[in-house]
Amino acid sequence: MDIQNFDSAVPALEVNGLTVKFPIRGGVFSKVKDYFTAVDNVSFTLPQRKILSIVGESGCGKSTLVKSLVGLVPVTKGEINLFGLPVKNGRAGNSKESVRVSDLVQMIFQDPFSSLNPRQTVTEILTAPVIARGVSFDDACKRARELLDRVSLPAGAMDKFPHEFSGGQRQRLCIARSLMVRPKVLLCDEVTSALDVSVQAQILHLLDDLRCDLGLSILFISHDMQVVRALSDEVLVMYFGHAVEHGPADIVLTNPQNDYTKKLLASVPTIRRK
Ligand SMILES: Nc1ncnc2c1ncn2[C@@H]1O[C@H](COP(=O)(O)OP(=O)(O)OP(=O)(O)O)[C@@H](O)[C@H]1O
Ligand SMILES: [Mg+2]
Repeated sequence: MDIQNFDSAVPALEVNGLTVKFPIRGGVFSKVKDYFTAVDNVSFTLPQRKILSIVGESGCGKSTLVKSLVGLVPVTKGEINLFGLPVKNGRAGNSKESVRVSDLVQMIFQDPFSSLNPRQTVTEILTAPVIARGVSFDDACKRARELLDRVSLPAGAMDKFPHEFSGGQRQRLCIARSLMVRPKVLLCDEVTSALDVSVQAQILHLLDDLRCDLGLSILFISHDMQVVRALSDEVLVMYFGHAVEHGPADIVLTNPQNDYTKKLLASVPTIRRK
């Protein structure tokens, strides 16, 4: 299947009625007593080459939602379509022709240190995902060097270990690793929360440049409404597992209709010295 040439009109991601329930266990035999609904009947679309931000207070189900898209937590109910292809058992497509979801979608996490194996060199970290997909070691190294350059890390980084980088450099490394398989969609879960403010801006600019240059579609989770305002084309607001508002960023953020969105926007802290 040619995953580089999807119809540009079809959404990169389409989610219908997505529900994720976690079992609540108890008793001596740790039996399932009940279920906790972390994501409740959420629907949205992510247009190609756009950034959709998911906002909402801690524990409202943002991470669970994006993890369920790549199979890191099981979906209880609902449909996921990638470029119009239905997703099932980690593959997008039908029984005759399908593609691995991980070839199309990659996830970047908040903590760049814990998501990198400290015992592997950058060469091993970057090349492993594509060597596993049948790319030769030499071609994988060439691709890794190109991507290190793209995320502004020196080629000399190839022989280093994760602990030899700063936090911002490690996040650049995670971004480079996610791009090795040439995905079409990035899921970014609070990717700048652990970074210094000046480094945050660099990483956000890098993500937006990559979106333009590589035609990526990005799902972006953040608590920082300033960042969301600056970066997003669309915003989805979640509250206790529900999607309570979804629309163009300039409308949702300037003229919210839902009471919770209004409260969320009003709660952006301002710090004043006495
Ligand atoms: N594996 C799990 N088993 C049981 N409950 C879980 C699991 N993962 C998440 N939860 C629960 O689901 C709810 C949503 O968690 P989630 O991590 O998606 O929130 P979040 O919106 O990403 O929060 P934050 O902004 O703090 O990262 C929380 O109440 C959490 O305790
Ligand atoms: Mg989270």
